[in-house]
Amino acid sequence: MASSLRVEVTQGRWADWMRSGDWERSANTAIPMLPAQAQEIVNLALDPDVTAARIVAIVSRDPVLATRVVQLANSAFSASSTEITSINEAVVRVGTGLVRNVMTSTCLSALAAGPHVYGSRGRECIDHSIGVAYLASSIAPAAGEESSEAFLYGLLHDVGKLLIIKLARQAKRYSVVPPSDEELEQVVAEQHAKAAGYLLRQWGLPGRLRDPLVWHHEPDRAEERPVSAAVAYAANRLAHRYGFVCSLDDFDPTADPVFERIGLDAAAVARLDLEAPELFKLAGKLKS
Ligand SMILES: [Fe+2]
Ligand SMILES: [Fe+2]
Repeated sequence: MASSLRVEVTQGRWADWMRSGDWERSANTAIPMLPAQAQEIVNLALDPDVTAARIVAIVSRDPVLATRVVQLANSAFSASSTEITSINEAVVRVGTGLVRNVMTSTCLSALAAGPHVYGSRGRECIDHSIGVAYLASSIAPAAGEESSEAFLYGLLHDVGKLLIIKLARQAKRYSVVPPSDEELEQVVAEQHAKAAGYLLRQWGLPGRLRDPLVWHHEPDRAEERPVSAAVAYAANRLAHRYGFVCSLDDFDPTADPVFERIGLDAAAVARLDLEAPELFKLAGKLKS
C-alpha cells in the first residue's frame, strides 16, 4: 500500500502539485525565514506616528542597518561636507520616512540572500520590488493611502515568487517531478500573488497587507482594501512601463480605469514619467 502510494506521488508533476494547492500542506520547509527584526520593522512601517527615537533604537540594534543608514546620510542625500558618524544624526539628516524605507527594503533583501536557493531571479525580484515600493509610496497620497504602508506592500508584492522558486528547486524533496523552465515561469505568473498571501499568514504579518499582495494583478477582486490593491497594481504596472528590473510594457495608463480611480490622471502620469529615473536611482541606493 505504502509503496504503491509512493509510486503514485512520485509520478506527480510539480506544476499540478502547485496548481492543486497541495503544496500548502508540506511547504513549511520552503518558507523563507524572516530576519530577526522583521516583525518590529513591519509594525514600524505601519505606524504613521512613529518617532525618530524609536527608529534610532531599532536601527542601533542591527549593524547592517546601522551601516546602511549612516552610509545613506553621507551619500548624495547630504549637501553638507561634515561626515556623519552617529545613527541619531543620520536619521535626522536622511529623514524618518526614508530611513523606514531603508529598514523595510534591507529586511526584504535579507530574505533572498541565498543565491543558491533563488539564483539570480531572487535578486531581480527584490530589485524590481524596491522599484515598485518607491512607485507605490509616491502614488499613495493621491489615492488617500499612507506612503510608508504603500512602500511596504509594494516591497512585498512579488514575494510569493521567492517561495515558488524555492518549491521548484526542492521538488524532489516533495516527490514531484521538477518543472521545466517554461512550467516554472507559468506557475510563477499564475500563483505568485496567492503565494504571497500564504507567506503573510505564515509570517504572522498584519492581515491588512493581504489584499494589496494577493490582488496586485486583479485589484477589482479585492474586497477589503480595494484602494491598496489598486495602488499596488498601478505601481507594478508603472514599474513595467519604466523597466524597473522587469520586462518593458508599453501601455497607456490613461486608458486604464484603475489608474483613474486612484487619482492618476494624464498629468500625474506625465509627472511620474519625469520622476521615474530619479526614483529608480533612489531605489538603487536602497539595494544592499
Ligand atoms: Fe506580480
Ligand atoms: Fe511585480
